[in-house]
Amino acid sequence: MSLIKPHGSDELNPLFVYDTAKNEALQKEAKGLASIVVSSATAANAVMMGSGYFNPLTGYMNKADALSVANNMKTTSGLFWPVPVLNLVQNAGSIKAGDRIALKDPNVEGNPVLAIMDVKAVEEFSDADVELICKSVYRPSDKEAHPGVDAFKAQGKIMLSGPIQVLNFSYFQTEFPDTFRTAVEIRDEIKERGWKKVVAFQTRNPMHLAHEELCHMAMDRLGCDGLVIHMLLGRLKKGDIPAPVRDAAIRKMVELYFPPNSAMVTGYGFDMLYAGPKEGVLHAIFRQNMGATHFIVGRDHAGVGDHYGAFDAQTIFDNEVPAGALKIEIFKADHTAYSKKLDKVVMMCEAPDHTKEDFVLLSGTKVREMLGNGIAPPKEFSRPEVAEILIKYYQSLGK
Ligand code: ADX
Repeated sequence: MSLIKPHGSDELNPLFVYDTAKNEALQKEAKGLASIVVSSATAANAVMMGSGYFNPLTGYMNKADALSVANNMKTTSGLFWPVPVLNLVQNAGSIKAGDRIALKDPNVEGNPVLAIMDVKAVEEFSDADVELICKSVYRPSDKEAHPGVDAFKAQGKIMLSGPIQVLNFSYFQTEFPDTFRTAVEIRDEIKERGWKKVVAFQTRNPMHLAHEELCHMAMDRLGCDGLVIHMLLGRLKKGDIPAPVRDAAIRKMVELYFPPNSAMVTGYGFDMLYAGPKEGVLHAIFRQNMGATHFIVGRDHAGVGDHYGAFDAQTIFDNEVPAGALKIEIFKADHTAYSKKLDKVVMMCEAPDHTKEDFVLLSGTKVREMLGNGIAPPKEFSRPEVAEILIKYYQSLGK
């Protein structure tokens, strides 16, 4: 049985060096190479390319490709791609085109070598380029700061472009051995399970009842064999729930409330961009690469603050993604919430006779406040077993 094809090529081409002898030889070679400690975003890009999620990219983009992607969502060679994948530095020192360099990991003690790069070009963005990229990729509102824009600008304006060979998966494999999976591994497991229709769920949060039911709805309506819950394991902004806590809460939910063998709990090594619609498109690409046939995009997907309209990450697929650019299909979900009248979670648009008061709606701030005070949200909002894990976390913050 053949799975959905990866993006941009017939076979998945992960940039991780799987051959042990070759990997060791490259690690040895790296010791004699010039090196730089890269930004966390650059390291995460390497992990994503190593894992096959960013197939068919072969390395970091150059200036022309980055600007082409920002302007037209395609590289200069015509590959559909929504977000520049860059190695940005403040200062390239003596590194020049033609050099072979070691990229060191900023997120692991001792900064081990994460990848080897053949530098094809060293270029610099102008201030206008930076603004253009921020505007078109992150689309921030001008009313509040944007954590993705801040993180992007903090990296510097000089970019090193060229192909890479990835030597490890940073801290993800060691810190999340049960959850971190490459696109190769997820494809293999989907094949092993014999799943044909597979829906993926992106998350950077613990899953409350509305998220759980959203996944069930997607599976039922699409007639899926399986669900892949695929959580972000990389860096988040302050205030977001750390991956280990979220992982434990999601695992508990799946264990208790999903039929056996219907859901895989997995994660990927990337820092959150908070780029709303454009990140939603990137999300769809890497879910296709891991073998999912469908991808859930709900309310304020990959959003932050008030930067995006609640369904901007859905309309981008209708208005800006060219027909045929992606093989994966998007399951667009309306705001889901518990209906007191119907005694179940519904999509709000499917309960047109309801008023706001008919739903159990709690703001993020309210939920955090309750959990911090040791109070479980109502069972119409959160599974008690999930709430228990979150209460423990929030209470540990106060100590
Ligand atoms: S995200 O940044 O990873 O997108 P989050 O973990 O909160 O954030 O959401 C995961 C997915 O669930 C996204 O597709 C999001 O749109 C969807 N989602 C979250 N809450 C709701 C909700 N109440 N109704 C519909 N979709 C939702």
